[in-house]
Amino acid sequence: MLLQTSKRLSLSDIIYSASRRANTRIPQYTSYLHRQITTLSALKRLPDTVSDILYKAGNGTLKETSKVTVHGWVRSVRKQKKIAFAQIADGSCDQMIQLVFLDSSIASELKTGVSVRATGDLVITPTRADPCEISISTPIQVIGDYAIPDEAYPLQKKFMTQEFLRREHPAQRFRTRVNANILRLRSLTVSCLSEFFSESGFTQTHPPLITSSDCEGAGEVFSISSSIDNAETKFFGQDSYLTVSTQLHLEALMMGLSRVWTLTPAFRAEESATSRHLSEFWMLEAEVAFTEELEHIMSIVEQMIRFSVRKMKDAGALEQIVKLKEMLEKQKLAVNEGEDDEETVTAAQVITRWNSFIANDQPWMRITYAEAISVLQAAVADRQVEFIHAVEDGESLKSEHEKWLAGNYARGPIFITQYPSHMKPFYMLPTPNTSGQTVECFDLLVPDMGELVGGSLREHDFARLNSAIELSGMDTSALSWYLELRKWGTVPHGGFGMGFERLICYLGGVYNIREAIAFPRWIDHCAC
Ligand code: 4AD
Ligand code: MG
Repeated sequence: MLLQTSKRLSLSDIIYSASRRANTRIPQYTSYLHRQITTLSALKRLPDTVSDILYKAGNGTLKETSKVTVHGWVRSVRKQKKIAFAQIADGSCDQMIQLVFLDSSIASELKTGVSVRATGDLVITPTRADPCEISISTPIQVIGDYAIPDEAYPLQKKFMTQEFLRREHPAQRFRTRVNANILRLRSLTVSCLSEFFSESGFTQTHPPLITSSDCEGAGEVFSISSSIDNAETKFFGQDSYLTVSTQLHLEALMMGLSRVWTLTPAFRAEESATSRHLSEFWMLEAEVAFTEELEHIMSIVEQMIRFSVRKMKDAGALEQIVKLKEMLEKQKLAVNEGEDDEETVTAAQVITRWNSFIANDQPWMRITYAEAISVLQAAVADRQVEFIHAVEDGESLKSEHEKWLAGNYARGPIFITQYPSHMKPFYMLPTPNTSGQTVECFDLLVPDMGELVGGSLREHDFARLNSAIELSGMDTSALSWYLELRKWGTVPHGGFGMGFERLICYLGGVYNIREAIAFPRWIDHCAC
């Protein structure tokens, strides 16, 4: 039989048809939340969102010629002699609804950016990219026009780098497709991760963000001061900081609930302004009681990511990202293209990343730090790779080493375990029978990025933890409450922390972490 078409399939076509065959496709991934909430009567009193309308048109609730009202912002207007078109978006999904004005004079007032309420007749267009449009024959209502008529709307269709948007319009950028999609991706990721933890018997907890200790001991804390502070008095009567990690408090909560997790902001006064570091970021942390095996913690991390990424794919998130990437690639734009940072992530790379997490159930590679050093040194000796920084046993792995291990050696996620103890914080459990040279810890590295997750078993013995705190030179009085957790009924335990924006960058194909959070903060940058 002859092939009916010679059309070259795009990556999104391939994913779309594969997921259709698997019968898992949902029109757009916001409908993942959709199915759970639209039955609420309170929401029925609100106007339908664009996503609601598309969903109802897709399942037959709204039919051809049904009267529909859409609320949203005009993304673009195209006026011809007789008819005119306007694309309406409201951010509830990536798709827009096209208004077709049968008389172009009705649309003469419409401009990009204004908010509107438009009522017309639904036209079902199953063969087009947009499943329906609205035919308009009477004037529509402009709800919010330009406040200063001569001032142009800043987000015109022309090329705008992410760096430009961040610098010039930090509060307007969520009105672009790419940035709105990142926010929806964050939301979906949180709901899938939450589902994993509730199905696995973890309790979500809420540790404090104001602390009296530097959990990681790296001296990267932001100190807190208040308007009443002076040389003699401090608001809290002592030094206080924004948390760098909630781990220590999470361990206290674990002592009451056995398996706990949290997703909170974390703050680090790091001066390195890299594409992987923020001063304010979100960290997902979990703590598990009654385990003496680092392997248990690594398996949880692996299954958490696999479960969530599969759910997100089923909800259409990968398809959505690939579609946007292809649109940008076509326009010769890139999601993360910056003025001095031209690095980009392609649609094909994003698909590889998702597949490396979920393609099969084979455990991800695990090697020790010592093995990693040997592998790196052998690769340098074989001239497989040249690094800027030498690979030295006993020194921390540099970002280029981490990226090579994941990208070239494992070609996917890889756990590096048992680092030398002098590189790691005081709370980590020494590896048994090594006279304390290494600790029971791991970093999960992924290609192109390096570290995504860090975790360990914790020292649970009172006396040994006491000496570890003293040895670290940390303020023992500030940590006495933490030490006391080992006094009555201590338990072997472990946990981990995952950088949430790093996960979003990795899955969303976002190169620079500043695009993965709504209002990025880093050194010298705290706009609006
Ligand atoms: O490896 P880290 O420093 O580990 C901890 O803080 C442990 N107390 C966590 C735990 O065991 N509960 O940080 C965990 C993760 C890193 O792997 C990285 O992904 C992310 O947090 N991270 C950052 N993300 C963005 N900007 C920064 N400045 C980050 N610093 C760490
Ligand atoms: Mg780390």
